[in-house]
Amino acid sequence: KIYTDYFYDPNGFDTQDAAYKPLKQYPCAPKPLNIPALLQPDKETASDVYYTVTAQAGEVQLVPGPKTKTWGYNAPLLGKFLVFKRGQHTHITLRNELPELTTFHWHGADVPGPITDGGCHAPVYPHQERKIDFTLEQPACFMWLHAHPCPLTAEQVYKGLATGVIVRDDVEAQLPFPRNYGVDDIPLVLQDRNFTADNQWDYQRDYDPDGVLGETPLINGTVNPYFDVTTQRVRLRILNGSNRREWRLHFSDDTVMTQIGSDGGIMPAPVKMTKLMLACAERAEVIIDFGHHQPGDTVTLYSDDTPILEFRIHDYAPDHTVLPDHLVDIPAYHVTPGTPVRKFTLDGTDDKVMINGKKFNMTRIDERQQLNTTEYWEITNTNSCHNGMGHPFHVHSTQFEIVSRNGHAPNPNEHGLKDTVQVNPQETVRLKVHFTCPGVFMYHCHIIEHEDGGMMGQIEVFDPEHPRTYELMNMKTL
Ligand code: C2O
Ligand code: CU
Ligand code: CU
Repeated sequence: KIYTDYFYDPNGFDTQDAAYKPLKQYPCAPKPLNIPALLQPDKETASDVYYTVTAQAGEVQLVPGPKTKTWGYNAPLLGKFLVFKRGQHTHITLRNELPELTTFHWHGADVPGPITDGGCHAPVYPHQERKIDFTLEQPACFMWLHAHPCPLTAEQVYKGLATGVIVRDDVEAQLPFPRNYGVDDIPLVLQDRNFTADNQWDYQRDYDPDGVLGETPLINGTVNPYFDVTTQRVRLRILNGSNRREWRLHFSDDTVMTQIGSDGGIMPAPVKMTKLMLACAERAEVIIDFGHHQPGDTVTLYSDDTPILEFRIHDYAPDHTVLPDHLVDIPAYHVTPGTPVRKFTLDGTDDKVMINGKKFNMTRIDERQQLNTTEYWEITNTNSCHNGMGHPFHVHSTQFEIVSRNGHAPNPNEHGLKDTVQVNPQETVRLKVHFTCPGVFMYHCHIIEHEDGGMMGQIEVFDPEHPRTYELMNMKTL
């Protein structure tokens, strides 16, 4: 079966908002898609690996004329990608070479909080560093690193503080997927920006409490990119890295995308589709089979009506790989008996956004859940269907299972592990949530201006055997 719709109700699309700006192709010559370099370790042994991640300022020739001032990790914009191996003890020195404080959040990683996780309680001040270490025990996936200082997350991400993290393991390594990074395994970080007359990004000028939309699509920081296809099958690791925009992807000729992975890793079964919508922070891994195309063809990827990336087909060797119907088993968590359903409401729009009627407070713990237990969470978007918004709900340090949407089965491509779920106006999404690391963690809307605007709360994951107290910073002590 090939699905041909986005699964979502168009009444919940971001296009419903009066402030919506569609994407526009930038009038300049096409450029090869930037493929972010991989960050090399400072040192590696069989059991341990050491990296230094530096947040730095720089400038990039994005469009003709003056260069754009940007921020990034070990690069002027976005950053070098990190590759982690499951089970390897990873040590990271986080350096801040920016003129203001930042934090380094591992979005999608099951790591302890609040310091290792890198939310707002873990500032790194200018010209200082912090050392963290962790061992990932979660399936191979595509996650990301981004800044998370409250309430400056949106502005810092807009300036470029976001990069990809690829996690590898032995299970994924056995599957017949393309995995030659930069050749047939390609990241696509989808973002949108506005340029001023002198080619800068002016966050303050474009600020909107419902999220900043840019008119110009940037893929891996490239304006008007093309990619040279040299293999029949190409794997795309797609990240919606926009502050606010939903991306609705499809090809000019409806080429099929076979989704094999979601936020938390490989899905139990591949799902074939011609349309794919990603809300903020969501990821999808898809395999494109260009076997129906001849060398010399071009196939264009669109978001809504705007071309965003051209695939130029070159000679390729025939590839007859058939994907198995079953890819991986995902951990089957059983809800811990006696735990009530934990309920959240996502309320309001603009500067009125809240969760459960409260704005975020860094010193307040809103919820507590015991380590290694599984609970049902129910997230309700109380916005109206007429002028409300979809809110992408994200939880730190967990990969959850989506149980239902308004009592119905989740979308066909939502059977894998997720850390972010789009909740439509008037919809209730039921999740199974399990934490494997203790700490204080944030959960929030991933429209980043909503997060900064207070649509965020904190949960303490506690271990009754090792009770702890946390000194929580407030915005002033930052
Ligand atoms: Cu992408 Cu609080 O995170
Ligand atoms: Cu996160
Ligand atoms: Cu929101």
